[in-house]
Amino acid sequence: MAIPGNACHRLADVVPRFCVEGAFVDARPYGSGHINDTYLVRTDRAGRLVPWITQRINHGIFQDVPGLMENICRVTEHLRAGLAAVPAADPDRETLTVIPTRDGMPYHRDDNGDFWRTYIFIAGATTHDQVAGPAMAYEAAKAFGSFQSRLRDLPDPPLRETIPRFHHTPSRFARLEHAIRADARNRAASCADDIAFALSRGAMAETLVAAIDAGDLPLRVTHNDTKINNVMIDDRDGHGVCVIDLDTVMPGTVLYDFGDQVRTATATAAEDEGDLGRVSFRLDLFEALVHGYLDAAREFLVDAEIGFLAFSGRLITFEIGVRFLTDYLDGDAYFKTHRPGHNLDRARTQFEMVRQMEENAERMEQVVARHR
Ligand SMILES: Nc1ncnc2c1ncn2[C@@H]1O[C@H](COP(=O)(O)OP(=O)(O)O)[C@@H](O)[C@H]1O
Ligand SMILES: [Mg+2]
Repeated sequence: MAIPGNACHRLADVVPRFCVEGAFVDARPYGSGHINDTYLVRTDRAGRLVPWITQRINHGIFQDVPGLMENICRVTEHLRAGLAAVPAADPDRETLTVIPTRDGMPYHRDDNGDFWRTYIFIAGATTHDQVAGPAMAYEAAKAFGSFQSRLRDLPDPPLRETIPRFHHTPSRFARLEHAIRADARNRAASCADDIAFALSRGAMAETLVAAIDAGDLPLRVTHNDTKINNVMIDDRDGHGVCVIDLDTVMPGTVLYDFGDQVRTATATAAEDEGDLGRVSFRLDLFEALVHGYLDAAREFLVDAEIGFLAFSGRLITFEIGVRFLTDYLDGDAYFKTHRPGHNLDRARTQFEMVRQMEENAERMEQVVARHR
């Protein structure tokens, strides 16, 4: 999402609003995020160039930016305080750090109504768009586990639910049923098998929400966007350094985070692969995720959470598939499409992964049992 006009010109105006040290030197688009506009900014501090990350927050997607930034500040300040007590920790690298504006705000709102924020730049670490192998899967899952662990004692009140019912699978499923009935674009006939697949698995949509309502699954701080490219991996030793991209931190079950990690990290193909023959579920990557996650989270998870780990991958993959299929039926209103049938391809990829996870269900349970 390019900024209209001269972006660097706007950053020269935006960056000095924040308490960055040194004078603005330059800015360039940075990273491969799809949501916000991210810039690597440099300032000159006594002849030394200092890097920062400045982002224009996508307030089309995130409608409550003040609430979202309040969540991020609470989370990052808590992480920083916890890390300060760990002798070998480096708080500037192991958590995002929000740089306030000169008026003490966590974001700057410009004359166009755009919201901006600035973070300390995390040096010597990189995000990766693909899981390179089990070692990286292990590190990423462990990083999310540590993130949850360090936020266990975040004081009340709970974080704001900035995207209400984000992972409420029954609502997502009800939306699909509605889209099938409405069939607004006359597309239902072109995906009858996919609809049948989804409807035959409707019963599983209730599972985690029911367990939360029954009090079996605690609400914790969850990240809600646990893709591999939201973990900074150390350039030298490959360790997970820091979980970034905190726009969707909210209360939820940790199973949403683990499940989405399984969905995104265990597939051999892209989310929109058109050739289902290339889509396969990798049990070795699943095992690496379980191993890494439990190494960080084993000590605090309750039995019900561990008991649903393998299932959570299947459920979240199903949920996202349901959302893609719904959007296809609705006429591609939500997810951007780049070709006809794009959302249907995405739905089919997800459902193929669900099918393979079903086939592997027992093996997946055995993996969890081995590492718990
Ligand atoms: N504090 C930071 N230090 C270094 N790089 C960062 C930092 N924050 C973000 N990045 C880089 O910018 C990319 C996009 O940032 P992210 O917050 O994930 O935006 P999006 O929501 O668009 O995915 C990341 O994948 C990462 O490479
Ligand atoms: Mg990101």
